[in-house]
Amino acid sequence: MLFHQVHVPPVCSLCSRLCAFRDQNRAQNPLYHNAPVPAFGDLSARLLIVGLAPGLSGANATGRPFTGDDAGQVLYAALLAHGLALGDYRGHAHDGLRLMDTRITNTVRCVPPNNRPTPLEIRTCGFFLDQEIHAMPHLSVILTLGKVAYETTLKILGGNPRQTPFVHGRVVQQGPYTLIASYHTSRYNINTKRLTVEMFDAIMGTVSTSLAATPRP
Ligand code: URA
Repeated sequence: MLFHQVHVPPVCSLCSRLCAFRDQNRAQNPLYHNAPVPAFGDLSARLLIVGLAPGLSGANATGRPFTGDDAGQVLYAALLAHGLALGDYRGHAHDGLRLMDTRITNTVRCVPPNNRPTPLEIRTCGFFLDQEIHAMPHLSVILTLGKVAYETTLKILGGNPRQTPFVHGRVVQQGPYTLIASYHTSRYNINTKRLTVEMFDAIMGTVSTSLAATPRP
């Protein structure tokens, strides 16, 4: 059995701004998770989904990526529709939802003010994303949600975002990994129709095709 978590200190103190925000949130909402949000899903998965950062009253509250966030409604519905999750998504960490061959993580694991991590916070937390990627022995497909997740992941894999910039639907083969870029499933993107459910379904189709081209261990 593989470890379920890459070790991120439960009270990581690497980013002073995020720590101060966490303390402030803990004072306001002591029942929230208010700590780095660990990845969800098994390290033996072939698919890794990388988001931006926990939402204040979503993943930062529930302790599970995309859970309780509007962005999670679209993401988990698509995973269920494509056979990459089993059960019911109910917006909390104890809904029994199981990911199939899939793991979900974030570029930055602590909630940032206004949903915007700084470049330094992205680089600092990138250490854990790097560890995560390299701790997944069967990883073959990485779906990145949004430009920050795409560029950070591409750089970790040795690519250059200036050569292959973020474009929704872009597929980049980077060593053994197929990197897929999508607009983030955020409420803003859905409300403005930058990303529609149909567009995201097409992205999930690309994910499924890419997974089908990879032998299961
Ligand atoms: N919730 C997350 O965990 N990550 C995101 O990128 C957005 C919402």
